[in-house]
Amino acid sequence: MNKIVAMILLGVLSLSSYAQDVDAGKKLFGTFCQSCHGPDGDGNGPANPEQSLKPRSFALAAFKFDTDADWQKGTDADLADVIRKGPAVYGGSPLMPGWSQFSDAEIKSLIVYIRSLES
Ligand code: HEC
Repeated sequence: MNKIVAMILLGVLSLSSYAQDVDAGKKLFGTFCQSCHGPDGDGNGPANPEQSLKPRSFALAAFKFDTDADWQKGTDADLADVIRKGPAVYGGSPLMPGWSQFSDAEIKSLIVYIRSLES
């Protein structure tokens, strides 16, 4: 019985921390990323109309970079590297800068938010 209560409590707690991450990520995204990636992460931000290389839509989650060479693209570690250092370091577009000043928690919330846009 106690085990069940504990499991329910844990479930509720992790759900609410997920919601907090999505919220925090959404705010950061609005400030730093939306101008290129668009408010819905579809790659149609106002800073982009003339760019030959548009950011991919996060709804498709078709990520390109495997920064830690583990043969998997778009893992949390890959996205964290791209956000911290910018895609150019990994042979991608120099248009997106890196944000080395973001804390681990901020990076995590951005990744959680980006993944929440997947459809
Ligand atoms: C100045 C425009 C610009 C801004 C601002 C920008 N990006 Fe990007 N982003 C791009 C472009 C262009 C690409 C495509 C890069 C490529 O394919 O080489 C990209 C790609 C990405 C990718 C895909 C990585 C992959 O493996 O495919 C992620 C994730 C990403 N950006 C996250 C962010 C986050 C988070 C922010 C805000 C902190 C941000 N971007 C801000 C232009 C921008």
